[in-house]
Amino acid sequence: MKKVLVLPGDGIGQEVVNPAVEVMQVAAQQQGVTIDVEEALVGGAAIDDCGSPLPESTLAKAKAADAVLLGGVGGPKWDDLPTAQRPEKGLLGLRQELGLFANLRPALLASSLAGASSLKPELVSDLDILIVRELTGGIYFGEPRGVETRDNERVGFNTLVYAEHEIERIARVSFDLASKRNGLLCSVDKANVLEVSQLWREVVTSLASDYPDVELSHMYVDNAAMQLVRAPKQFDVIVTGNMFGDILSDVAAMLTGSLGMLPSASLSASGAGMYEPVHGTAPDIAGQDKANPLATILSVGMLFRYSLDMPEAADNVDRAVAKVLADGHRTADIAGDAQADAVGCRTMGELVIENL
Ligand code: IPM
Ligand code: MG
Repeated sequence: MKKVLVLPGDGIGQEVVNPAVEVMQVAAQQQGVTIDVEEALVGGAAIDDCGSPLPESTLAKAKAADAVLLGGVGGPKWDDLPTAQRPEKGLLGLRQELGLFANLRPALLASSLAGASSLKPELVSDLDILIVRELTGGIYFGEPRGVETRDNERVGFNTLVYAEHEIERIARVSFDLASKRNGLLCSVDKANVLEVSQLWREVVTSLASDYPDVELSHMYVDNAAMQLVRAPKQFDVIVTGNMFGDILSDVAAMLTGSLGMLPSASLSASGAGMYEPVHGTAPDIAGQDKANPLATILSVGMLFRYSLDMPEAADNVDRAVAKVLADGHRTADIAGDAQADAVGCRTMGELVIENL
Protein backbone atom coordinates (compact mmCIF):
# COMPACT_ATOMS: atom_id res chain seq x y z
CA MET A 1 0.00 0.00 0.00
CA LYS A 2 1.29 3.43 -0.99
CA LYS A 3 0.54 6.62 0.88
CA VAL A 4 -0.17 9.86 -0.95
CA LEU A 5 -0.90 13.13 0.79
CA VAL A 6 -3.17 15.43 -1.18
CA LEU A 7 -2.91 19.17 -0.54
CA PRO A 8 -5.57 20.95 -2.61
CA GLY A 9 -4.53 24.42 -1.41
CA ASP A 10 -6.38 27.46 -2.77
CA GLY A 11 -8.36 28.73 -5.75
CA ILE A 12 -8.76 26.11 -8.45
CA GLY A 13 -6.50 23.78 -6.42
CA GLN A 14 -9.40 21.73 -5.06
CA GLU A 15 -11.10 21.48 -8.46
CA VAL A 16 -8.04 20.21 -10.31
CA VAL A 17 -6.98 17.86 -7.55
CA ASN A 18 -10.32 15.99 -7.41
CA PRO A 19 -10.21 14.47 -10.91
CA ALA A 20 -6.46 13.88 -10.58
CA VAL A 21 -6.98 11.80 -7.44
CA GLU A 22 -9.67 9.75 -9.21
CA VAL A 23 -7.32 9.16 -12.13
CA MET A 24 -4.62 8.13 -9.67
CA GLN A 25 -6.88 5.60 -7.94
CA VAL A 26 -8.07 4.03 -11.19
CA ALA A 27 -4.57 3.82 -12.70
CA ALA A 28 -3.21 2.28 -9.48
CA GLN A 29 -6.02 -0.29 -9.24
CA GLN A 30 -5.21 -1.37 -12.78
CA GLN A 31 -1.77 -2.35 -11.47
CA GLY A 32 -3.25 -4.05 -8.42
CA VAL A 33 -2.00 -1.31 -6.09
CA THR A 34 -4.11 0.43 -3.47
CA ILE A 35 -3.26 4.02 -2.65
CA ASP A 36 -4.07 5.37 0.76
CA VAL A 37 -5.04 9.00 0.16
CA GLU A 38 -5.13 11.55 2.93
CA GLU A 39 -5.93 15.26 2.60
CA ALA A 40 -4.54 18.23 4.53
CA LEU A 41 -4.48 22.02 4.42
CA VAL A 42 -1.74 24.26 3.07
CA GLY A 43 -1.45 27.87 1.91
CA GLY A 44 -4.30 30.32 2.29
CA ALA A 45 -6.73 27.55 3.28
CA ALA A 46 -4.44 26.69 6.20
CA ILE A 47 -4.00 30.35 7.14
CA ASP A 48 -7.77 30.71 7.36
CA ASP A 49 -8.04 27.52 9.40
CA CYS A 50 -5.21 27.92 11.91
CA GLY A 51 -3.16 31.01 11.03
CA SER A 52 -0.18 29.19 9.50
CA PRO A 53 0.45 28.47 5.79
CA LEU A 54 2.17 25.20 6.72
CA PRO A 55 0.67 23.66 9.89
CA GLU A 56 2.85 21.17 11.79
CA SER A 57 0.30 18.42 11.20
CA THR A 58 0.43 18.95 7.43
CA LEU A 59 4.21 18.83 7.43
CA ALA A 60 4.23 15.64 9.52
CA LYS A 61 1.80 13.96 7.13
CA ALA A 62 3.87 15.09 4.14
CA LYS A 63 7.01 13.58 5.67
CA ALA A 64 5.22 10.28 6.29
CA ALA A 65 3.85 9.99 2.73
CA ASP A 66 5.45 8.35 -0.30
CA ALA A 67 4.41 11.37 -2.33
CA VAL A 68 2.52 14.64 -2.07
CA LEU A 69 0.07 15.91 -4.69
CA LEU A 70 -0.50 19.66 -4.46
CA GLY A 71 -3.07 21.87 -6.21
CA GLY A 72 -1.79 25.39 -5.75
CA VAL A 73 -1.42 28.10 -3.12
CA GLY A 74 -2.16 31.80 -2.92
CA GLY A 75 -4.75 34.34 -3.94
CA PRO A 76 -5.70 38.02 -3.58
CA LYS A 77 -7.28 37.38 -0.19
CA TRP A 78 -3.85 36.84 1.39
CA ASP A 79 -1.79 39.24 -0.78
CA ASP A 80 -1.39 41.89 1.92
CA LEU A 81 0.11 39.57 4.53
CA PRO A 82 3.83 39.97 5.36
CA THR A 83 6.18 37.65 3.40
CA ALA A 84 6.67 35.23 6.27
CA GLN A 85 2.93 34.59 6.63
CA ARG A 86 1.89 34.39 3.00
CA PRO A 87 0.44 31.22 1.43
CA GLU A 88 3.59 30.88 -0.72
CA LYS A 89 5.55 30.25 2.50
CA GLY A 90 3.63 27.00 2.80
CA LEU A 91 4.97 25.86 -0.54
CA LEU A 92 8.50 27.07 0.12
CA GLY A 93 8.42 25.44 3.56
CA LEU A 94 7.39 22.08 2.08
CA ARG A 95 10.17 22.28 -0.49
CA GLN A 96 12.74 23.06 2.17
CA GLU A 97 11.52 20.68 4.90
CA LEU A 98 11.17 17.75 2.51
CA GLY A 99 14.52 18.52 0.85
CA LEU A 100 12.95 18.75 -2.60
CA PHE A 101 16.00 20.11 -4.34
CA ALA A 102 15.25 18.94 -7.89
CA ASN A 103 12.31 20.49 -9.67
CA LEU A 104 11.46 18.87 -13.01
CA ARG A 105 9.32 20.97 -15.32
CA PRO A 106 8.69 19.42 -18.70
CA ALA A 107 7.30 21.55 -21.51
CA LEU A 108 5.69 19.24 -24.00
CA LEU A 109 3.52 20.21 -26.90
CA ALA A 110 1.52 17.72 -28.90
CA SER A 111 1.27 18.87 -32.50
CA SER A 112 -2.52 18.85 -32.09
CA LEU A 113 -2.18 21.78 -29.69
CA ALA A 114 0.45 23.76 -31.62
CA GLY A 115 -2.18 26.35 -32.55
CA ALA A 116 -2.59 27.28 -28.87
CA SER A 117 0.95 28.65 -28.64
CA SER A 118 1.71 32.32 -29.18
CA LEU A 119 4.63 31.21 -31.37
CA LYS A 120 4.34 29.93 -34.93
CA PRO A 121 3.20 26.29 -34.92
CA GLU A 122 6.33 25.05 -36.71
CA LEU A 123 8.53 26.48 -33.95
CA VAL A 124 6.75 24.60 -31.16
CA SER A 125 5.05 21.59 -32.72
CA ASP A 126 6.29 18.41 -30.95
CA LEU A 127 8.33 20.49 -28.53
CA ASP A 128 9.75 18.37 -25.72
CA ILE A 129 12.06 20.13 -23.30
CA LEU A 130 12.72 19.57 -19.63
CA ILE A 131 13.74 22.33 -17.26
CA VAL A 132 15.49 21.13 -14.14
CA ARG A 133 15.32 23.90 -11.57
CA GLU A 134 17.29 23.86 -8.31
CA LEU A 135 14.58 24.34 -5.71
CA THR A 136 15.93 24.56 -2.17
CA GLY A 137 18.82 26.99 -2.52
CA GLY A 138 19.92 30.13 -4.28
CA ILE A 139 18.40 33.53 -3.72
CA TYR A 140 15.09 32.09 -2.49
CA PHE A 141 16.65 30.79 0.71
CA GLY A 142 20.00 32.60 1.01
CA GLU A 143 20.86 34.51 4.17
CA PRO A 144 21.14 37.32 5.07
CA ARG A 145 17.87 38.65 3.76
CA GLY A 146 15.58 41.45 4.81
CA VAL A 147 14.78 45.12 4.73
CA GLU A 148 16.61 47.46 7.09
CA THR A 149 17.33 51.12 7.51
CA ARG A 150 20.79 52.31 6.53
CA ASP A 151 21.71 56.01 6.45
CA ASN A 152 18.10 57.02 6.87
CA GLU A 153 16.71 55.02 4.00
CA ARG A 154 15.35 51.51 3.77
CA VAL A 155 17.47 48.94 1.99
CA GLY A 156 16.22 45.56 0.81
CA PHE A 157 18.61 42.67 0.31
CA ASN A 158 18.73 38.97 -0.51
CA THR A 159 21.64 36.62 -0.95
CA LEU A 160 22.37 34.43 -3.97
CA VAL A 161 24.45 31.55 -2.65
CA TYR A 162 25.23 28.03 -3.89
CA ALA A 163 27.58 25.53 -2.29
CA GLU A 164 29.43 23.01 -4.45
CA HIS A 165 27.39 20.07 -3.16
CA GLU A 166 24.13 21.80 -4.09
CA ILE A 167 25.37 22.42 -7.62
CA GLU A 168 26.73 18.91 -7.96
CA ARG A 169 23.55 17.10 -6.90
CA ILE A 170 21.24 19.08 -9.21
CA ALA A 171 23.73 18.71 -12.06
CA ARG A 172 23.90 14.92 -11.58
CA VAL A 173 20.11 14.62 -11.66
CA SER A 174 20.14 16.63 -14.89
CA PHE A 175 22.93 14.64 -16.55
CA ASP A 176 21.05 11.42 -15.68
CA LEU A 177 17.82 12.71 -17.15
CA ALA A 178 19.56 13.99 -20.28
CA SER A 179 21.21 10.63 -20.86
CA LYS A 180 17.76 8.99 -20.78
CA ARG A 181 16.39 11.56 -23.23
CA ASN A 182 18.17 13.11 -26.22
CA GLY A 183 21.56 13.50 -24.57
CA LEU A 184 21.73 17.30 -24.56
CA LEU A 185 22.22 19.28 -21.37
CA CYS A 186 22.34 23.08 -21.33
CA SER A 187 23.40 24.69 -18.05
CA VAL A 188 22.06 28.22 -17.68
CA ASP A 189 23.82 30.82 -15.55
CA LYS A 190 25.05 34.42 -15.47
CA ALA A 191 28.74 33.64 -15.29
CA ASN A 192 29.68 36.85 -17.11
CA VAL A 193 28.61 38.79 -14.01
CA LEU A 194 28.11 36.57 -10.96
CA GLU A 195 30.74 34.67 -8.98
CA VAL A 196 28.09 32.15 -7.95
CA SER A 197 27.54 31.38 -11.62
CA GLN A 198 31.27 31.00 -12.25
CA LEU A 199 31.41 28.33 -9.55
CA TRP A 200 28.21 26.77 -10.92
CA ARG A 201 29.74 26.51 -14.39
CA GLU A 202 33.00 25.10 -13.04
CA VAL A 203 31.26 22.39 -10.98
CA VAL A 204 28.88 21.37 -13.77
CA THR A 205 31.77 21.19 -16.25
CA SER A 206 33.84 19.04 -13.90
CA LEU A 207 31.11 16.37 -13.85
CA ALA A 208 30.71 16.08 -17.61
CA SER A 209 33.35 13.36 -17.99
CA ASP A 210 31.16 11.04 -15.85
CA TYR A 211 28.45 11.27 -18.53
CA PRO A 212 30.17 10.65 -21.88
CA ASP A 213 26.82 10.16 -23.63
CA VAL A 214 25.65 13.67 -22.71
CA GLU A 215 26.69 16.75 -24.63
CA LEU A 216 27.00 19.67 -22.18
CA SER A 217 26.66 23.30 -23.17
CA HIS A 218 26.41 26.55 -21.19
CA MET A 219 24.30 29.61 -21.83
CA TYR A 220 23.80 32.94 -20.10
CA VAL A 221 20.31 33.33 -18.76
CA ASP A 222 19.40 36.36 -20.87
CA ASN A 223 20.39 34.53 -24.03
CA ALA A 224 18.54 31.42 -22.84
CA ALA A 225 15.34 33.44 -22.43
CA MET A 226 15.78 34.73 -25.96
CA GLN A 227 16.61 31.31 -27.43
CA LEU A 228 13.55 29.80 -25.75
CA VAL A 229 11.27 32.08 -27.70
CA ARG A 230 13.40 32.11 -30.86
CA ALA A 231 14.10 28.42 -31.40
CA PRO A 232 12.95 26.36 -28.43
CA LYS A 233 13.46 22.99 -30.08
CA GLN A 234 17.25 23.39 -29.84
CA PHE A 235 16.93 22.41 -26.16
CA ASP A 236 16.57 19.00 -24.54
CA VAL A 237 17.35 19.38 -20.80
CA ILE A 238 18.08 22.76 -19.20
CA VAL A 239 19.55 22.89 -15.70
CA THR A 240 19.61 26.12 -13.74
CA GLY A 241 19.32 27.74 -10.32
CA ASN A 242 16.21 28.53 -8.37
CA MET A 243 15.29 32.01 -9.61
CA PHE A 244 16.45 31.61 -13.22
CA GLY A 245 14.48 28.35 -13.27
CA ASP A 246 11.38 30.06 -11.93
CA ILE A 247 11.46 32.57 -14.76
CA LEU A 248 12.54 30.30 -17.61
CA SER A 249 10.01 27.64 -16.70
CA ASP A 250 7.18 30.12 -17.12
CA VAL A 251 8.58 31.09 -20.52
CA ALA A 252 8.86 27.43 -21.50
CA ALA A 253 5.36 26.80 -20.20
CA MET A 254 3.86 29.51 -22.34
CA LEU A 255 5.50 28.06 -25.44
CA THR A 256 2.96 25.30 -25.12
CA GLY A 257 0.08 27.76 -25.21
CA SER A 258 -1.34 27.02 -21.82
CA LEU A 259 0.02 26.78 -18.34
CA GLY A 260 -2.94 24.47 -17.82
CA MET A 261 -1.10 21.58 -19.45
CA LEU A 262 2.15 21.47 -17.54
CA PRO A 263 2.97 19.15 -14.67
CA SER A 264 5.96 19.26 -12.34
CA ALA A 265 7.83 17.04 -9.95
CA SER A 266 9.98 18.13 -7.02
CA LEU A 267 12.28 15.38 -5.81
CA SER A 268 14.43 14.76 -2.79
CA ALA A 269 17.50 12.59 -2.54
CA SER A 270 15.39 9.77 -1.08
CA GLY A 271 12.95 9.65 -4.00
CA ALA A 272 10.04 11.10 -2.05
CA GLY A 273 8.49 13.86 -4.06
CA MET A 274 5.88 16.54 -4.39
CA TYR A 275 3.87 16.87 -7.59
CA GLU A 276 1.99 19.94 -8.70
CA PRO A 277 0.71 21.73 -11.78
CA VAL A 278 2.94 24.62 -12.89
CA HIS A 279 -0.07 26.93 -13.11
CA GLY A 280 -1.26 28.94 -10.16
CA THR A 281 -4.57 29.12 -8.34
CA ALA A 282 -6.43 31.20 -10.98
CA PRO A 283 -8.73 32.96 -8.48
CA ASP A 284 -10.64 34.54 -11.39
CA ILE A 285 -12.10 31.18 -12.47
CA ALA A 286 -12.09 29.34 -9.13
CA GLY A 287 -15.26 27.45 -8.29
CA GLN A 288 -16.63 27.62 -11.85
CA ASP A 289 -15.60 24.18 -13.14
CA LYS A 290 -13.58 25.89 -15.89
CA ALA A 291 -10.06 24.94 -14.85
CA ASN A 292 -7.95 22.56 -16.89
CA PRO A 293 -7.14 19.49 -14.72
CA LEU A 294 -4.64 18.02 -17.20
CA ALA A 295 -1.55 19.57 -15.61
CA THR A 296 -2.48 17.97 -12.29
CA ILE A 297 -3.40 14.68 -13.96
CA LEU A 298 -0.05 14.67 -15.77
CA SER A 299 1.56 15.42 -12.38
CA VAL A 300 -0.01 12.17 -11.18
CA GLY A 301 1.76 10.51 -14.09
CA MET A 302 5.07 11.90 -12.83
CA LEU A 303 4.17 10.79 -9.29
CA PHE A 304 3.78 7.21 -10.51
CA ARG A 305 7.04 7.43 -12.44
CA TYR A 306 9.35 9.08 -9.93
CA SER A 307 8.02 8.29 -6.44
CA LEU A 308 5.91 5.11 -6.66
CA ASP A 309 8.07 3.30 -9.19
CA MET A 310 5.00 2.44 -11.29
CA PRO A 311 6.10 3.27 -14.85
CA GLU A 312 3.21 1.41 -16.47
CA ALA A 313 0.63 3.43 -14.55
CA ALA A 314 2.57 6.56 -15.56
CA ASP A 315 2.50 5.58 -19.23
CA ASN A 316 -1.21 4.79 -19.02
CA VAL A 317 -2.03 8.20 -17.57
CA ASP A 318 0.08 9.99 -20.19
CA ARG A 319 -1.52 7.95 -22.96
CA ALA A 320 -5.06 8.58 -21.73
CA VAL A 321 -4.43 12.33 -21.69
CA ALA A 322 -2.93 12.23 -25.18
CA LYS A 323 -5.97 10.26 -26.43
CA VAL A 324 -8.46 12.73 -24.96
CA LEU A 325 -6.62 15.58 -26.68
CA ALA A 326 -6.33 13.69 -29.96
CA ASP A 327 -10.10 13.12 -29.81
CA GLY A 328 -10.48 16.88 -29.81
CA HIS A 329 -11.62 17.50 -26.24
CA ARG A 330 -10.52 20.87 -24.87
CA THR A 331 -10.99 22.92 -21.74
CA ALA A 332 -11.52 26.66 -22.30
CA ASP A 333 -7.83 27.59 -21.90
CA ILE A 334 -6.80 25.42 -24.87
CA ALA A 335 -9.98 25.67 -26.92
CA GLY A 336 -8.92 28.73 -28.94
CA ASP A 337 -11.85 29.88 -31.07
CA ALA A 338 -13.93 26.80 -30.21
CA GLN A 339 -14.97 28.13 -26.80
CA ALA A 340 -18.56 26.96 -27.26
CA ASP A 341 -17.36 23.34 -27.41
CA ALA A 342 -15.07 23.56 -24.38
CA VAL A 343 -15.60 21.02 -21.59
CA GLY A 344 -15.36 21.72 -17.88
CA CYS A 345 -12.87 20.47 -15.33
CA ARG A 346 -14.98 17.54 -14.11
CA THR A 347 -15.85 16.35 -17.60
CA MET A 348 -12.23 16.50 -18.67
CA GLY A 349 -11.35 14.29 -15.69
CA GLU A 350 -14.08 11.79 -16.61
CA LEU A 351 -12.85 11.66 -20.20
CA VAL A 352 -9.34 10.79 -19.03
CA ILE A 353 -10.70 8.01 -16.82
CA GLU A 354 -12.76 6.60 -19.72
CA ASN A 355 -9.55 6.36 -21.70
CA LEU A 356 -7.49 4.72 -19.00
C1 IPM B 1 6.63 28.44 -8.87
C2 IPM B 1 6.00 29.62 -8.19
C3 IPM B 1 6.57 29.72 -6.79
C4 IPM B 1 8.05 29.98 -6.94
C5 IPM B 1 5.92 30.78 -5.90
C6 IPM B 1 4.41 30.57 -5.80
C7 IPM B 1 6.53 30.83 -4.54
O1 IPM B 1 6.17 30.76 -8.94
O2 IPM B 1 6.53 27.32 -8.34
O3 IPM B 1 7.22 28.64 -9.93
O4 IPM B 1 8.48 31.12 -7.14
O5 IPM B 1 8.81 29.03 -6.84
MG1 MG C 1 7.04 30.42 -10.86
